[in-house]
Amino acid sequence: MRTDTAPTISRHDYQPYPYRLPQVELVFDLDDVQSRVTSKLSFERVGAEGSPLVLNGEDLALESVVLNGRKLDAGDYQLNEETLTVFPTEAAITLEVVSLCKPAQNSTLMGLYVSGNNLFTQCEAEGFRRITWFPDRPDVMSRYRVTLRGDKARYPLLLSNGNLLESQDLPDGRHQAIWEDPHPKPSYLFALVAGDFSCREQAIQTASGRDALLQVYSDRGSEDKTEWALDSLARAVKWDETRFGLELDLDRFMVVAARDFNMGAMENKGLNVFNSSYVLADPDTATDASYHAIEGVIGHEYFHNWTGNRVTCRDWFQLSLKEGLTVFRDQEFSADMMAHGLTQGEAASARAVKRIDDVTALRTAQFPEDAGPMAHPIRPESYQEIGNFYTATVYEKGAEVIRMQHTLLGESGFRAGMDEYFRRHDGSAVTCDDFVNAMESVYIKQNPGKDLKVFRQWYSQAGTPRVKVELDYNAAAKSCRITLSQHCEPVGIEKLREPQSEKPPLLIPFALGLLDEHGNGISLKHEGKQLDTVVLELDTRRQTWEFGNIPSQPIPSLLRNFSAPVIVDYAYSTAQLALLAQHDSDPFARWEAGQELATRQLLKLVAAIQAKAPLDVDPEFIESWRAVLQDQQLTPAYRSRALTLPGEKILLEKTLPMDPAAVAGARRHLRETLGRELAPLWLEALHSADSGTSAPYSPNGLQAGLRSLKNLALAYLAAGNHPQATDLASRQYYEARNMTDRMGGLAALVNQQDASAGAQALQHFYEQWQHNPLVIDRWFTVQATAPSTRVSTVRTLMQHPAFTLRNPNRARSLIFQFCMNNLQGAHTSEGYEFWADQVIALNDMNPEIAARLARAFDNWSRYIPANREAIRQSYERIQQHPTLSRNVAEIVTKALK
Ligand code: PHE
Ligand code: ZN
Repeated sequence: MRTDTAPTISRHDYQPYPYRLPQVELVFDLDDVQSRVTSKLSFERVGAEGSPLVLNGEDLALESVVLNGRKLDAGDYQLNEETLTVFPTEAAITLEVVSLCKPAQNSTLMGLYVSGNNLFTQCEAEGFRRITWFPDRPDVMSRYRVTLRGDKARYPLLLSNGNLLESQDLPDGRHQAIWEDPHPKPSYLFALVAGDFSCREQAIQTASGRDALLQVYSDRGSEDKTEWALDSLARAVKWDETRFGLELDLDRFMVVAARDFNMGAMENKGLNVFNSSYVLADPDTATDASYHAIEGVIGHEYFHNWTGNRVTCRDWFQLSLKEGLTVFRDQEFSADMMAHGLTQGEAASARAVKRIDDVTALRTAQFPEDAGPMAHPIRPESYQEIGNFYTATVYEKGAEVIRMQHTLLGESGFRAGMDEYFRRHDGSAVTCDDFVNAMESVYIKQNPGKDLKVFRQWYSQAGTPRVKVELDYNAAAKSCRITLSQHCEPVGIEKLREPQSEKPPLLIPFALGLLDEHGNGISLKHEGKQLDTVVLELDTRRQTWEFGNIPSQPIPSLLRNFSAPVIVDYAYSTAQLALLAQHDSDPFARWEAGQELATRQLLKLVAAIQAKAPLDVDPEFIESWRAVLQDQQLTPAYRSRALTLPGEKILLEKTLPMDPAAVAGARRHLRETLGRELAPLWLEALHSADSGTSAPYSPNGLQAGLRSLKNLALAYLAAGNHPQATDLASRQYYEARNMTDRMGGLAALVNQQDASAGAQALQHFYEQWQHNPLVIDRWFTVQATAPSTRVSTVRTLMQHPAFTLRNPNRARSLIFQFCMNNLQGAHTSEGYEFWADQVIALNDMNPEIAARLARAFDNWSRYIPANREAIRQSYERIQQHPTLSRNVAEIVTKALK
C-alpha cells in the first residue's frame, strides 16, 4: 500500500520506450499458494545507447535475473517497490527473469488471482506487473508464447491467448499446455485461465470463409445458462462483418466467466474474461435487463478485437480511443439487434428506446461526474492512478463524442473514416488525435474548406456544455431565426485555477425540427435540401440560422435524438412541452418533452417540501401522463420509458444546494399521486401487458417492453397504496415464470406498506435461490434500495452468511446499491459514517473497488449544509487511514480540494 505521495502523471510527459520487445516467452508453474513465472524477453534497443531497461513489478518476489546469459548479482541491477532496472550495454538483449507471486492471497483481483477453485488473470490497466517484471505499458507490443503447467486434476483446462500449440502430461499428476498468440499485443491484453469449466461452443465461418470456433466457458453446472451469451457472440461476429467489414482474425475466440471480477468484462486477445453476471442467463434467473446487458457486453468485448486490440492505445491517456469507440459500437450493435425484424415504425421506436436508455445512463452517471471534483476531459490531462479513470466520462461521454463524428460524417462517411483508421494504424498503438485525423480526412472531402479543428476541443475539455436557444419568428416574412449560443462552466480542478478566460467553443452538431401549432412537422430548407430534421453545426460562441416558408409561429424540437452531450436551455411553455410530448415525430425528443414536464413538476414539489408548503400536483401534468398511458400507438417499451419519472440523481443535479431528502420526497409524492389518480389505467395496463407475455419467454423488445410496462404499472399501484397492490404483487411474485416478473413482484412487495408480505417473499426468495450467487445479488439489491431500508438494516444484512465484501458483485449488490441508490437511507450522518467504514474496509482488500465506492459523495460541496459537513468529516476520516491505497487517496484528495 502506498500513501498520497503518489506522483501525478501528465499526458504531455509521454516518452517512447527505448526498447522494442518483439518476442516474449513465459512459463508458468501454476499453484494457488505460490506460482512461479519464468520470462524470457528479447529486447532490441531503439533509444539512446546506454538507456537503462526499466521493468515494472508489484508484489513479486524476485528469484533470478539473467542478462544475455549472465546471471546478475543484486549489485548488478536496481530493485525497488515498483521497478527493476538493468543496465545493458548491447543493443540486442535477452533477459530472463524468474519471480514468484501468491494468487490465493491476492484480494485485489489484479494480476494472477483465485476465484472459486480456478486461476484467472486481470491485466488492464497495470496488472501484468503483478505477474512478472515487464515494460507494462500499452505501446510495447510483443508476440507471446506461453507455457502453462499445473496439476491436472485441479486445473484440467489451461487457457491462454491465441492458438493451442500442444498439450502433454507431466510427471506427478501435472500437465502442460503451450499457447502462441500470432498477433503482437500489449501486456494488458495478456490472459491465462486455469481450472475446471464446462464449455459451450459453436463453429462458424467468417465472411471470407475461414473456419473459427466460438467458445463460452463457465463453472460446471452452469452450462445451461450460456446459450444466450454464445448466440450473442455469434451475432456480434456477424454484425462487425456487415456493418464495419471487420472479421474475426483468430481460429478460436474464448469467453470465460469468473465469479470474482472487478469490472464487467475484459477483452484479452482471443480469451475474454467476463464477470459471470454478463455471461449467465436463463429465464428463471436473469431479467430482461440482464439479457440485454449480456448481449451488449459480449458485443463490446468482441468489438475490442479491432478497436482496442488490433489498434491499441499509445498510453493510458488515450483510453477513450478504444473505450469511447467501442461503447459507440456496442450501442449501435444493441440498437440494430433490437430493431431487427421489425417494421420501419417499430424499428424507429426500438432504436429510440435504446437511445433513451443510453442517454439516461449518461445523465445519471456522467453528468454528475462532469460537474464534480473528478471532472476530466474524455482524454484526461493527468492522473495518479489510471484505475480511477475507467469512468463514465471516458466511456459514455467518449461514445457520444464518437457518435457526433458519426452524425457529422453520416453512416457511409463514418465507415470510410473507420476504414482509413485501420488502413493507417492496424497493428499499432496510437492516439485519439490519430483517430480524429482519419475521420477528418473524410470530413474534409465532404466539406471543402472545413475541418475538425474546433471539434477536437471535445477531447480536451471537461464539463457539460449548455446550449441556449433563441427563436425569432417573423410573421410578415414567414421566416424563423434560430440562434444558438454555447457556454461551459469551469469544473473540477479548473475552478481552483486563476479565473481564466472562457473555454474555447466546441463544434456541436445540433439536430433541430420545427412543429406547427397542431404538432405537424414543418419541412426546413437547409444547405439546399428540404428536411424534417436539420443538423446545425454550431462552432462559435453564438450563431444564427434563418429558415423561410414557415407559415405560423413554430415550436422547436431541440437536440433531436440527443445529437450532442449538452444541456439545452430554452424557455418552453408548459403547453408547448405538452404538444411536443404528444406529437413530436422524433421519438427521443418526444420522450424528452415529457421528462421536462415531469422535471418541472418535481422541482415544484421539491420547493414545496423545502418551504413546508402543501404538495400540489398540477392536474394538467396528470393528464399528460394519462395521455401517454392511453396511447396505444406507442410500443409498450417506449411507453414504459415515457411513464418513468426522471431518476433521483438526474433531479439532484438540477437542484442547488442539493437536498436528497426533498428530492426523494418529491419523487415519492408524485409516484404516489400518479399511482392513485391513474389507478384504473395502471390496472388495465398491468392486465393487458400480462396477457401479452404468455408466449414462451424471449428477451426480445416486444416481450421485454410488455414486462417493463407491467412492472411499472405494478410499482405505481404499490406506490399509490392501491388496495389490490399487495395481492397483485404477491400473485405476480409467486406465479412468475421468469425472473423479470418475479423481481417486479418482489420489488413491489418490498416497497409497499404491508411489511409482512414483503418479508415473507424475501424469505421465500432466499430459500429458493440461495445456491445461485447472481440471484442472491438481486436479493441483496432489492433490500438495499428499498426506501424503508436504513443503515441498521444494511449492517444486519452484512452479518448474513451469504454476505462477503471480497466478492465485488456482492459488495456492489448491497453496499454500493445502498450508498448510491438509496437516497433516503444513505444521506444521513449515520449513512455517511457507514459508507466511510466500508471504503476503509475495502481499501485494504481491493483498492479498485474501494476507490469506486469512495466516489459516492464526491459532489458533497453542493449539498445542503447539514449533509455537506457530515460528508466532509467522513472523507477526512478516510484520508486519515494509515494504509490508504493510491486509488482511494487520489479520490479523497480531489474530493477535499
Ligand atoms: N477494458 C474493459 C472493457 O471496457 C474494462 C476493464 C478495465 C476491465 C479494467 C478490467 C479492468 O471492456
Ligand atoms: Zn471496453
